[in-house]
This record gives sequence, C-alpha cells and structure tokens, in this order.
Amino acid sequence: MKYTEFASTGEKVSELCLGTMMFGGRCSEAEADRILGSAVDHGVNWIDTAAMYGDGLTEEILGRIMKGRRDKLFLTTKVHKGVDRASIVSSIDESLARMQTDYVDLYLIHWPVEGMKPAEIMEALNTVVESGKARYVGCCNYPAWLVAHHNAIAAANGWPRLLNNQIAYNIIERGVELEIFPQAVAEKIAITTYRSLIQGLLTGKYRWGQPLPENTRGQTSPHIITWLTQYGQSVDRFIAFAEARGITPTTLAVAWVRHNAAVTAPIIGVSSLPQFEESLEAFDYDLSDEDYAEVTFLFDTEVREEGYNRFPGTKYNFPRLRRNLNLLGE
Ligand SMILES: NC(=O)c1ccc[n+]([C@@H]2O[C@H](COP(=O)([O-])OP(=O)(O)OC[C@H]3O[C@@H](n4cnc5c(N)ncnc54)[C@H](OP(=O)(O)O)[C@@H]3O)[C@@H](O)[C@H]2O)c1
Repeated sequence: MKYTEFASTGEKVSELCLGTMMFGGRCSEAEADRILGSAVDHGVNWIDTAAMYGDGLTEEILGRIMKGRRDKLFLTTKVHKGVDRASIVSSIDESLARMQTDYVDLYLIHWPVEGMKPAEIMEALNTVVESGKARYVGCCNYPAWLVAHHNAIAAANGWPRLLNNQIAYNIIERGVELEIFPQAVAEKIAITTYRSLIQGLLTGKYRWGQPLPENTRGQTSPHIITWLTQYGQSVDRFIAFAEARGITPTTLAVAWVRHNAAVTAPIIGVSSLPQFEESLEAFDYDLSDEDYAEVTFLFDTEVREEGYNRFPGTKYNFPRLRRNLNLLGE
C-alpha cells in the first residue's frame, strides 16, 4: 500500500480509503470483519464511515470488528442529522459510543443544509476537537466557496479549519474539477472521492441491453439504470479498453480517479471480500497520460459545471445547492 500525507498535517494515510456504507446492509458483519482484516493486512489505515449508514448500525459493527485494530486506523465519521451546534456535539458522542472508541481521527459535516450557520458549525467543531473527540475536521459535498467561507471564519477565530472535502467523482461526474479541485490543491485540502465506480457501473457487471445482474445495487438503485441508459455504449467501450490492457474495468475506473493530482484517496466501497481484493490492484496501476486521454474521450469530454448530480428530483442535488442564494442562515 502506498501512503500519502493527509492535508498538510504530516499524518500518513493510505491511498486507499475503505468505505463502509455497505457494512450491515448488503455486507454481513462477518464479511465486514474479513474485509477490514484484509484491508489492515494490506496496510490500509483510512476508514470512512458515517452515523447515517444503517442509521448507526454500520458504526456499531465497526465498533465490534475494530477491536484490536483501532490504533492502526485513521477513522473518519460524519455528523448525523443537522448542522446546528447541539447536533454536532451530540452526534460525535453517539458515534464514539457506537464505535467503542474515545476519538475519531476525522469528523466531517455530511452535507450542506439550507439555513446552515458556518460560524456556529466551526465553533462546534472546535469544541469537538478541543475535547479530544476528533483530531481533524472536514466536510463532504461542499462547493469550493463554502469551504473557503468556513475556513475564513476558522482562521479569524483560531479554530481548526476544514481539511477534507469528500465528494463524488468519476469519469462521468466531473464538475468538481472546475473549482473544488483547484481550491483543494491551493489550500492543501485533502480530497476523498466516493462513487468512483459509479455504484458498480464501471466494474463490468452491468451491460446495456442485458438483464441487471442478481444481488447487486442495480436491482434497487434507479440511478444505475439512468446512467446505463445514457452511457451504455461508452461503458461497453470502457470495458473493452480495460480488457485490451489486461486489467479489470474496476482497476481502470479507480486508476482514472487516482490520475488526478488533486485526489488524495479514492474511497473503495465494497460489499464482499473478493470485491475488496480486486480493488487493490488499482493502487498498483498508473494510467499513462495517453491512456487517460483516450479513455476519458469515451465519455463526455466537456467538464460541465452541472455535471455533478444528475438527479433533479432527489434531496442531494448539488447543482441546486450551488445556486441556492439562501443556503446560509442568519
Ligand atoms: N460523503 C458522502 O456523501 C458519501 C456518499 C456515498 C458514499 N460515501 C462513501 O464512499 C464509499 C463508496 O461509495 P459508493 O458505494 O458510492 O462507491 P462506488 O465505488 O461507486 O460503488 C461501490 C459498489 O460497487 C460495487 N463494486 C465494488 N467493487 C466491485 C468489484 N470489484 N466488482 C464488482 N462490483 C464491485 C459494489 O456494488 P454491489 O454492492 O452492488 O455489489 C459496491 O457496493 C461508501 O462506502 C461511503 O464510505 C460517501
């Protein structure tokens, strides 16, 4: 496993961040234990979870399976619901109790929320850090201006600044390249990426015109059908491209994400041990600039401001959030 520095802290984190969203859902506790064991054996130390995964069940499972391993891990979790002071300071206590640990290494705001108050958020995060319950703080799904806004408040008050922005990034969702990535590089903010495999679309198991494979998220996620309808031919060519180079589509997809210098660590979310072990290969495979350009050209080549979330009806609509002039409360 290769290691990289977390923001400018001197802290060494693995280039693979293990995502746990499937633990307790599609992935049983016994399988989660095997995945975590394999991850630690392969030198992975960065673990990503959230209070909302399984409504707390994922953290509870982690609490049990991290036993004897906690001190090897750079553990990240996220505030549950609400970004007011009371929610931020109580959510960390609940997460720590579920995970049977005294602290997390990184504590993140999960989503911007309409009416949010950055000064209140940063003051509450400072309280969490001062109490020793989190070592570093960060956010997810923040546009660049909002990270800068929070960090200006932190700087003015001598509070810890947001050191991580966790965002969706893959070969079809590239809007973050426009502002979030340059800002992260300029301000030494770690970028972690989720949806690197487009929920499994880029692993080779979904093919346009063929039945959805059994026992996959595609059976329940409407998004995979939406993407497959729009990008089916590109996905076919993407799979053929990987085969021609003797690598798996999974490796190609993760290597594509890793190719961008702004990315600190792709988050690898799996529901089984074989999936995890397959993903390891991607961290030993570097795409050449020529291959990167060629494979990117299989999809949209234009990086759109709006190319971040294509589901206008859902709550998590990043473009709408970016345009929301009332995002911040008084
Ligand atoms: N901050 C946020 O707002 C946020 C949002 C979402 C996720 N996350 C984090 O990011 C992590 C990853 O997110 P994601 O689930 O969207 O990631 P993803 O990489 O796009 O999709 C992961 C899915 O791909 C499939 N897969 C993975 N490896 C495979 C392999 N080798 N072969 C075949 N299929 C494979 C599995 O689907 P099947 O289960 O169908 O087999 C797995 O559940 C999560 O665990 C979580 O920690 C954060």
